[in-house]
Amino acid sequence: MLTVCRAKLWQDTQHINYYFYSMANNEDIFKKVISHAKEYGFVFPSSEIYDGLSAVYDYGQYGVELKNNIKAYWWKAMVQHHENILGVDTAIFMHPTVWKASGHVDAFNDPMIDNKGSKKRYRADMLVEDQISKIEGKIAKEVTKAAKRFGESFDEQQFITTNPRVAGYKEKIEDIKKRLYTAMDNNDLAGIKTLIEDLEIACPVSGSRDWTDVRQFNLMFATQMGSLSEGASEIYLRPETAQGIFVNFLNVMKSGRMKVPFGIAQIGKAFRNEIVARQFIFRMREFEQMEMQFFVRPGEELKWFEYWKEERMKWHLSMGIPAEKYRFHDHDKLAHYANAATDIEFDFPIGFKELEGIHSRTDFDLNAHQEYSGKKLQYFDPELDQSYVPYVVETSLGLDRTFLAILSNAFTEEKLDDGSERIVMKLLPVLAPIKVAVLPLVKKDGMPNKAREIFDSLKTDFMCQYDEKDAIGRRYRRQDAIGTPYCITVDHQTLEDNTVTIRERDSMKQDRIIIEEIASIISTRIKE
Ligand code: GAP
Repeated sequence: MLTVCRAKLWQDTQHINYYFYSMANNEDIFKKVISHAKEYGFVFPSSEIYDGLSAVYDYGQYGVELKNNIKAYWWKAMVQHHENILGVDTAIFMHPTVWKASGHVDAFNDPMIDNKGSKKRYRADMLVEDQISKIEGKIAKEVTKAAKRFGESFDEQQFITTNPRVAGYKEKIEDIKKRLYTAMDNNDLAGIKTLIEDLEIACPVSGSRDWTDVRQFNLMFATQMGSLSEGASEIYLRPETAQGIFVNFLNVMKSGRMKVPFGIAQIGKAFRNEIVARQFIFRMREFEQMEMQFFVRPGEELKWFEYWKEERMKWHLSMGIPAEKYRFHDHDKLAHYANAATDIEFDFPIGFKELEGIHSRTDFDLNAHQEYSGKKLQYFDPELDQSYVPYVVETSLGLDRTFLAILSNAFTEEKLDDGSERIVMKLLPVLAPIKVAVLPLVKKDGMPNKAREIFDSLKTDFMCQYDEKDAIGRRYRRQDAIGTPYCITVDHQTLEDNTVTIRERDSMKQDRIIIEEIASIISTRIKE
């Protein structure tokens, strides 16, 4: 919603972070991750043979496994481990009034502007933000120059706070931000255009400064339901999964005999017609969310907000990614329906960005649906002997962003002792697309038969792969590149004593084990 976007915009640039110092290097890594994802069957551009469709991606053979494993990991933590959280899978299409009640029809907007020279469309606020980034880049240059000049004795923090040129840039940034946020808050579209003109922002494509007026652009995709002769009506592709949960609050509560506090969780597709969609799967037009609405007694929502803040961070950290890659970003400026909000941000190769939102949404959504539907959406609390509309704490995680976080963190380029190099995806074994590869050392002497036998015995329990093509070293590299934690190799000794080697991906260490133990060893290690 516009209010949401404004609040987010504010948070995004509130704390000037200087991560862009290492941006060039990270951009390089980001490019490598994107090309690795394509080369090894994780993510493909959608409809690529037709030159792709902007900000839409397909998940390939390993991508879908990783994605399914992430979903299962989240579902287990949220639904299986909490007896008071139930899962649902609601439809993408919903009654159009849902989106009126939720506020999306009126306010799920971003300000857009067209350049008359190039005919390209931009998000007006992002053009201004890019300008801010350019000034931040100038600060970064000053810092790099000074670091070279002062050498070891350089105190970056002190330099940033005392250097007059940097102070000038910072003042300029603050001034731009103030004008932008004031205009956004007041829905002052003319004010945003004046700011773009005052900053002399040119179209990155045409270089022209000839802009149209700024207009609001609703991010929902609309389509028609029913054949035209029946009298078609306009419906929307849901822009979030949360509303499917709110409208089923009574159904789940009654059929599940739930008592407040309880939660409803869902994983599913959401669609947003993002004006500017870039940065690979970070901002897509079709994406997936993993959301949970937790219904609580009014007055207890802030306690539960703190609880879920902590729980959700623990979940992220449980995937073995270093803690410094995550941070909370508490919102100072709240959307009108929220009384507390935070983002869990992740240090993507494009910098720290929102991964998950945790919001205390008060009784705004249930109240709105109560009003628009005319149905009571209340809970009778036997302890208080009264009925009320529960308050809601929401945890809302982007599945594709989680995928990107895990993928970019796992991507590792290593130089080995023998001088060779490898790319290894250091994925948590439980998330790895393929858990075990079974490889005959050579394609003769009965080794393929034995390896196939082992593969067949493992495939019902684990996602396995059999591979006999190319030299064994190349096959190990292929498995490293997709993150397979274990490789089982059948060699000459196997045929004599029924043992195989088990190779661990990260250490590349090999142990000899008996065939009968393979399944139990792998299942124990995957759970570790
Ligand atoms: N129900 C609340 C809600 O939808 P949001 O902050 O708009 O809140 C939640 O979205 C999460 O969904 C974000 O933190 C992000 O991970 C993901 N998300 C939102 N827009 C996205 C997009 N265009 N592409 C990929 N993920 C997106």
